[in-house]
Amino acid sequence: MERTFVMIKPDGVQRCLIGEIISRLEKKGLKIVAMKMMKIERDLAERHYAEHKGKPFFESLVSYVTSGPVVAMVVEGKNAIKIVRTLVGATNPAEAAPGTIRGDFGMEVGRNVIHASDSPESAEREIALFFKPDEIVEYRRIDEDWLY
Ligand code: TYD
Ligand code: MG
Repeated sequence: MERTFVMIKPDGVQRCLIGEIISRLEKKGLKIVAMKMMKIERDLAERHYAEHKGKPFFESLVSYVTSGPVVAMVVEGKNAIKIVRTLVGATNPAEAAPGTIRGDFGMEVGRNVIHASDSPESAEREIALFFKPDEIVEYRRIDEDWLY
């Protein structure tokens, strides 16, 4: 099993997409093993997006993700990192396929609704930034034998 970090960004929360997004993850077969609503401080946003520091969009990205509450999650499943990125769609909603979260709900790259880790290394780093180990819960989905 693999774990990935998912965050519904402030626009996703304000546009009442929390339930829709969680529902898509659940129905796919992914397991939510940690979740919280929180307001991100600037320091956490900068650390989360450290790889983009210095890029022209960095400042607007940090002010966007700190502009309102977000929903942070740890999502588990076989190949979860790749599977969630596929459900989320391309970074720019203008290029994201219909049927993906960004393709269905986003209009522009600076308001693209959701974040998901892009590699095992970033998943591990991002999960540790947002969650303490004891906030992650282990349990079995009742349909696990039918998923795998
Ligand atoms: P990135 O990690 O490249 O995309 P993803 O979220 O798909 O992993 O970029 C992080 C966020 O930065 C992205 O979700 C939206 C924002 N961003 C911009 O505002 N403008 C840009 O040109 C890019 C590449 C990203
Ligand atoms: Mg990224």
